[in-house]
Amino acid sequence: MNKTMTVGLVGARGHTGSELLRLIKNHAGLELAFASSRELAGQSITTAMPGIDMRGKFEDLQPDQVAECAPDICILALPNGLAKDFVDIIDKKSPRTMIVDLSADYRFDPAWHYGLPELTRLSSKSLQRIANPGCYATAMQLAIAPLLDVVTEPVHCMGISGYSGAGTTPSPKNDPEVLRDNILPYAPFGHIHEREVSNQLNTPIRFMPHVASFFRGISMTVCASLSTKISNDELDDRYHRAYDGEPLVKLQSDIPHVRDNVNFHHATVGGWAVADNGQYVVVYSTLDNLLKGAATQAIQNINLACGFHELEGIPHD
Ligand SMILES: NC(=O)c1ccc[n+]([C@@H]2O[C@H](COP(=O)([O-])OP(=O)(O)OC[C@H]3O[C@@H](n4cnc5c(N)ncnc54)[C@H](OP(=O)(O)O)[C@@H]3O)[C@@H](O)[C@H]2O)c1
Repeated sequence: MNKTMTVGLVGARGHTGSELLRLIKNHAGLELAFASSRELAGQSITTAMPGIDMRGKFEDLQPDQVAECAPDICILALPNGLAKDFVDIIDKKSPRTMIVDLSADYRFDPAWHYGLPELTRLSSKSLQRIANPGCYATAMQLAIAPLLDVVTEPVHCMGISGYSGAGTTPSPKNDPEVLRDNILPYAPFGHIHEREVSNQLNTPIRFMPHVASFFRGISMTVCASLSTKISNDELDDRYHRAYDGEPLVKLQSDIPHVRDNVNFHHATVGGWAVADNGQYVVVYSTLDNLLKGAATQAIQNINLACGFHELEGIPHD
């Protein structure tokens, strides 16, 4: 498709923001309208982020200035709880601007499209307001979805994330000293991604998040009892039927490893096996939290919403 859409990015300094800048730069149909960061305001993008060869400077834009710019698309890559000021004023002053929010703020709002394309692209209503899924939540849902009709509740998920998942605001979860030779369990009850997945799949899940000393990537282990006996062959069938046509979900019979998937745009699901005479299943998934868990998925959603090829600007094989 021969068109160019302008994109404004709020939260451009962050881990996901910088990945989005890279993807926008390499997308034939997207042109950066602005990159907003308070800390980097005034600096050129290439100087502040030497790996990104892009014209333009970071600006510190308030919500009303963002709405006045009226880009075709506004991506919000801000910490949770900050999107509303931007959304409200865009709704009022520039309602034709499409919004893609990477935070959890609108993932439970039925007026917004929940954009996990492999699972929700057919259910889309309007794509003007898109809530991008969480990174752990993407890893969990891709692993669970092919088994949804046979799992008994709750499904148990244990996730280990690299510390980029905790953003750039200093905390024990991204403190190299705390994480050195260590693994940090946290939020044992009610993690927001536990609620997100339970809500999206309409089945209760239990999620045990951990953060480890590697920078990026997620390892997810999903375990569930089954309401009916299934064989390893049927498991194979279910995963292949679900994802064989999906370039951004790779399947493998072995357990997928974080380091093999880091810096790639796809998720990998694998290592599925049944035990207990076919009534208990374990399956693993991994993805790069900053890519398929965030920035890549946002671009996939934008592509679908704008009528570009779904993988435009996304390296894949
Ligand atoms: N990291 C991940 O793996 C991941 C995966 C999926 C989804 N997400 C979600 O994506 C969002 C961004 O995550 P991230 O990891 O990129 O966070 P981050 O690295 O901490 O970056 C946050 C960005 O927001 C800006 N910011 C912070 N406070 C602000 C405020 N009060 N007003 C305006 N700008 C502010 C920061 O830039 P300045 O301080 O320079 O303004 C920075 O650019 C979060 O909601 C997160 O939950 C993250």
